[in-house]
Amino acid sequence: MAIDAAQMDQLAAAARAAREQAYAPYSHFGVGAALLDEQGRIHAGCNVENAAYPQGLCAEAVALGHLVLAGGKRVRAAVVAGVAPTPVTPCGGCRQKLREFGADDLPVWSADAHTITARHMLGELLPASFGPQHLGTP
Ligand code: THU
Repeated sequence: MAIDAAQMDQLAAAARAAREQAYAPYSHFGVGAALLDEQGRIHAGCNVENAAYPQGLCAEAVALGHLVLAGGKRVRAAVVAGVAPTPVTPCGGCRQKLREFGADDLPVWSADAHTITARHMLGELLPASFGPQHLGTP
């Protein structure tokens, strides 16, 4: 089923609200992510940094954990919220994490506090990706 504008608005609002909860005492760069699952449910996450810097979690990874825990199987749309001079898109690792639950046609939008700042498809952000099909997993 097609994703409508109202759902994308809700997703952006959830990503912005998640960003408000970010634990980012080191970078001071809060990120929020919100994912729409195949049942139409929204799962959100924020970044969670750590004094041992590499142990920090990205917002997308936290949101994916919530989706999986709730029994979600697929990501139908994603919004990443952050405030920066250019649109905040998922980092490379998170592009791959999203790929596990979505394909090239997964919309991945960027938002700041007020507007949608970029609209991409996962296939643009992670072309010629490695995915579950390479392992023979449907
Ligand atoms: N960050 C995310 O949460 N998601 C991304 O896709 C990009 C980066 C976080 C990680 C770190 O806490 C902060 O942003 C600065 O890199």
